[in-house]
Amino acid sequence: MRSEMEKDILKVLITEEELQKRIAELGEAIYERFQGRRPLFLGVLKGSFVFMADLVRACQLKSDVEFIAVSSYENATVSSGRVKINHDLQQDITGRDLIIVEDILDSGSTLAFLKDYFLTKGAASITIVTLLDKPSRRTKAITADFAGFEVPNEFVVGYGLDYCQEYRNVPYIGVLKPEVYAG
Ligand code: PRP
Repeated sequence: MRSEMEKDILKVLITEEELQKRIAELGEAIYERFQGRRPLFLGVLKGSFVFMADLVRACQLKSDVEFIAVSSYENATVSSGRVKINHDLQQDITGRDLIIVEDILDSGSTLAFLKDYFLTKGAASITIVTLLDKPSRRTKAITADFAGFEVPNEFVVGYGLDYCQEYRNVPYIGVLKPEVYAG
């Protein structure tokens, strides 16, 4: 496939095949944990939209989907630590078993905020699924229940993850060339 973005990618960190294989495993593990319980998959936009679409199809549970849109990076490469809700829940989550779906768990600020927020809204349980985990950058006491891949402290894009809102449609996880964000 032709790509206008390939020239900005330093290296491929996780291929499309590796992503699909791991997501199938995650889907199976989540099925095991939740069968018979009708969980609510709750995607954290925007970054999670690609992973969410693949994960819910890899996990054939009776379930429904919901989204919340938050941001904390505001086009910077380091989190501001302040989480802003850009699009709120559209349904009552009281008594629901939530499966929060994230593209990346970095400082943990976003999930620390969301966990509290969903508990105050009456969620019965919260399970965190993240495709990528960067434990080296954690500042909040947050761990994922299910994590796809541990990644090093490099600026990753693709498969939903952006730099200045671009590169979300790159089909693999790649590392951006430093000159792209330095310039
Ligand atoms: C990214 C990502 C997570 C969050 C993780 O979102 O999608 O939600 O940062 O970082 P943290 O653990 O340090 O909080 P971002 O604010 O860039 O918005 P986006 O999903 O719209 O890209």
